[in-house]
Amino acid sequence: MKLIIDDANVEAIKALYEYFPVDGVTTNPSILAKSGRNPYDVLSEIREIIGADAELHVQVISKKAEGMVAEAAKIREKLGTNTYIKIPTTREGLKAMKTLKAEGVNVTATAIYTAQQAFLAGKAGADYAAPYVNRIDNLGADGVATAKKIHDIYRKNNLHTEVLAASFKNTQQVLELAEYGVGAATVAADIIEGLLKNACVDSAIDAFTADFENLVGKGKTMENC
Ligand code: E4P
Repeated sequence: MKLIIDDANVEAIKALYEYFPVDGVTTNPSILAKSGRNPYDVLSEIREIIGADAELHVQVISKKAEGMVAEAAKIREKLGTNTYIKIPTTREGLKAMKTLKAEGVNVTATAIYTAQQAFLAGKAGADYAAPYVNRIDNLGADGVATAKKIHDIYRKNNLHTEVLAASFKNTQQVLELAEYGVGAATVAADIIEGLLKNACVDSAIDAFTADFENLVGKGKTMENC
């Protein structure tokens, strides 16, 4: 399962790229709005940090298919042809997906709340489909189960689309989908950090250090003991 950063905070992305095994960045209009800056300025900085080959997913705003296709052209011109165009999975969105895929554009079907929507996005040729796990939970359904069901539908129908699970509230939701082997999860920076955060680990390492320093002296390591 690819692990993608669902964030537009340039500093957070830089830090995660330095330390964590991550595979790209997704954004949406609300995430970009948090930066308070011109979207293309922020996205260009992100592209520079992650490199030309990494996955960057950028969402369109238009409600009509023609507008979505025009936005896709501008996004690719500014951020590279490797950029994934996030298209909301609506009636107009499906039309845009079919057009874009016929032109060889990378497409991420987004705003997915049901397996029905995801099935159609797969049939329209989307490369990824993004079910909103936590938002589905909040509707009283099961977000993780929906993402798994979508993964199964794609595999059983020989559709090449991969699940790009999105909207996570906690690390357990992420892990359950990794265990199932869905294609990718896009996760906010703090939840990626949360995959590692554990006071037991910190205290175990502190105890190892204390024992070692008692043996050979403060500040010593295996390099200079
Ligand atoms: C990704 O495609 C979605 O835009 C995003 O994960 C939604 O996350 P949220 O439900 O935390 O806003």
